[in-house]
Amino acid sequence: MSLPTRRRRRDDPTQRLVQQITSCWRTQTLLTAVQLELPDRLATGPGDVQQLADACQCSSDGLHRLLRALCTLQVCRERRDGRFELTASGGALCRRPPDGGVSLRAMVIWWGGPMWPMWGELSYSVCSGRSARARQTGLSNYAFLGQQPEVAAQFHQAMQVMTALIAPEVARLDLWRDAHELIDVGGGNGVLACAVAAAHPHLTVTVLDRADAEPGAAALINHHALAGRVSFVAGDFFAAVPAGADCYLLKSILHNWDDAACGRILATVRQAAPPAGQLLLVERVRPARLRPSSHDEALARTDLNMLAGLGGRERSLAEFAALLGPAGFEITAVSPTSHEFSVIVARRVD
Ligand SMILES: C[S@@+](CC[C@H](N)C(=O)[O-])C[C@H]1O[C@@H](n2cnc3c(N)ncnc32)[C@H](O)[C@@H]1O
Repeated sequence: MSLPTRRRRRDDPTQRLVQQITSCWRTQTLLTAVQLELPDRLATGPGDVQQLADACQCSSDGLHRLLRALCTLQVCRERRDGRFELTASGGALCRRPPDGGVSLRAMVIWWGGPMWPMWGELSYSVCSGRSARARQTGLSNYAFLGQQPEVAAQFHQAMQVMTALIAPEVARLDLWRDAHELIDVGGGNGVLACAVAAAHPHLTVTVLDRADAEPGAAALINHHALAGRVSFVAGDFFAAVPAGADCYLLKSILHNWDDAACGRILATVRQAAPPAGQLLLVERVRPARLRPSSHDEALARTDLNMLAGLGGRERSLAEFAALLGPAGFEITAVSPTSHEFSVIVARRVD
């Protein structure tokens, strides 16, 4: 016997709010799936609940309920024979997605793990304007990663995922044709540096980042067999960046910092850049007003993430121009990419 279904209003505001209020369940459901390696297990073929439960060493009832929940999130679907199979979107949670796309696994581990306690203290950040993570860890900005190599690796892997999503678009930009040497300032694991270098064999690239990014960067550079043209240098972008390159790239750097710190980073870049040097910012550009859309929701999420995590912020184009002007740069072009990012091109003004 099937249950009668009630017709729902198309956009019921109460229903929407209930979903928003309870939306934390999704992050932890995805995290549990990834921790149990369910996407990878299902990537080899449909799975039987008891066999999966035995392989994961967990309760078959609990696992059955998790799999049903994952069906509602479109990670897997239940077949007529009662077994569960991975969907195409669920494949993105595998270590190596079957379709060859970017694995979002590291992002799930970061958001469901080290980021989780921070959001519980968002109200502290909103009321004080200070970083909740700094309050929780007793360490400001990136110092907390320096103390915990495992968490640092998780962070760099999660950043690598987000950046890999747009790296092909950035690598396709026309401006690389005329460039010779690129410094990826705060380039993390070097995913963008590797994508640009792989697409433009005439370029040499240096990734400058904190020492905790080095193991991941070395592995990625070797993986892409780019050791001859891409190198990693450990350093502090508040102190100095390698001089004389014709292109300086800062992806998701300025949004980590308040205006004063951004001014200090831009000053070191300005000091290093030759007169014809170009500055590229890859950042989210905040519209003047945020509206209910998935694009603006992502802006709001990352703006609050910056507030609670690092005391940074997402900026409008006018705010970027106001940061760049006093540092001796002016914006010459802006090209939007997917995933809410834009490439802001600036040149030195003397
Ligand atoms: C949000 S991540 C962006 C990473 C990379 N650009 C990307 O988008 O994938 C910020 C990066 O800045 C680096 N960073 C933070 N403080 C730094 C400093 N003082 N000197 C050099 N790098 C720093 C972090 O280690 C991290 O890799």
